[in-house]
Amino acid sequence: MKKYLITGGAGFIGSNFIHYMLDKYNDIFIVNLDKLTYAGNLLNLQDIKNNKNYKFIKGDICDSKLTDKLFAQYDFDYVVNFAAESHVDRSIESANSFFETNVMGTLNLIQTAMKHWKNPDDSFKSGRKYLQISTDEVYGSLDLDSKTKFSENTKIDPHSPYSSSKASADLLVKSFFDTYKMPINITRCSNNYGPYQFPEKLIPLMFSKCIKKEQLPVYGDGKNVRDWIYVLDHCRAIDLVLHKGKVGEIYNVGGDSEVPNIDLVKKIIQYLSSYDKNINEKLITYVKDRKGHDRRYAIDFSKIKDNLGFCPTHDFDTSLKMTLDWYLNNKDWLEKIESGEYQNAYKA
Ligand SMILES: NC(=O)c1ccc[n+]([C@@H]2O[C@H](COP(=O)([O-])OP(=O)(O)OC[C@H]3O[C@@H](n4cnc5c(N)ncnc54)[C@H](O)[C@@H]3O)[C@@H](O)[C@H]2O)c1
Repeated sequence: MKKYLITGGAGFIGSNFIHYMLDKYNDIFIVNLDKLTYAGNLLNLQDIKNNKNYKFIKGDICDSKLTDKLFAQYDFDYVVNFAAESHVDRSIESANSFFETNVMGTLNLIQTAMKHWKNPDDSFKSGRKYLQISTDEVYGSLDLDSKTKFSENTKIDPHSPYSSSKASADLLVKSFFDTYKMPINITRCSNNYGPYQFPEKLIPLMFSKCIKKEQLPVYGDGKNVRDWIYVLDHCRAIDLVLHKGKVGEIYNVGGDSEVPNIDLVKKIIQYLSSYDKNINEKLITYVKDRKGHDRRYAIDFSKIKDNLGFCPTHDFDTSLKMTLDWYLNNKDWLEKIESGEYQNAYKA
């Protein structure tokens, strides 16, 4: 039975990944280490909390005593590090926790893995891998009319405190391969959407405001472009890289769906207007642009496609509707976040 340490598994992508893995494999054991910051939500994992192949541990990836104890106890085969402070706007307000978790937490995790995975002759126990979940935001920004997309060889040029903390972690993880030949991979994915996303992020935020008929704040001229990927396509890519990725390599993951923010907001309005005719474009309000707002992200994912056979399978328009349906059918999930009740889901 392979043992996985999944960090940040109570967040959006991590909880989807845990569901994906437990649905796909019977012969794995997952330890989910999550600090339960405001973004961690155990309601995301309510249905599997008693699964015999799963254990939740509340804790911080910066806590070396705890990570050391967990490695000694479970002898993990794989580490997938999702744990992060992940919201750009919050990083602009205050960057400290971003560098503590995203950089120092990553350093602690990879050092602990190295300590437990290294043989006396400096080689590594076979079959182990550390996977760092990173973001396309480390590459910076593209012009709207640029013909090029971000490839793995694009220069790292992060602009926000969030993306610079993620880029720092990437360089750190890569250095453990370059220096020690530690078995690592890094994935850099574009914007994810799907169930269980914390409602500070664009799609659930717009959903939540639409159903309350509140103003829909759109940054700047609304023409900033993001490449969207359905979260389960991302999970599939992570599974592939973890098990088939060449050690030491970085893989971009994209959804092949570039959409300007304003078009996305209009798609959400159009779909939800069939439930309530008071949801309309008059709710849109343009607000002062985000500081240092990247104009466009576009991902060239030909490396993972050619080498590992990955292609996103979820069409954007269809899966966006599916996602909105999920939020419509799970309004109590959203309400429990908005009231703060979700934080009572943890019982020590
Ligand atoms: N959401 C996206 O579109 C996207 C795109 C590309 C990459 N990523 C990356 O994927 C990862 C997950 O993103 P997400 O959107 O699920 O984030 P999220 O904010 O929804 O979840 C982050 C999780 O990490 C936990 N956490 C935070 N600090 C911790 C610490 N010190 N120790 C242990 N747990 C801690 C939180 O409690 C939360 O459960 C992040 O590393 C992010 O940079 C996200």
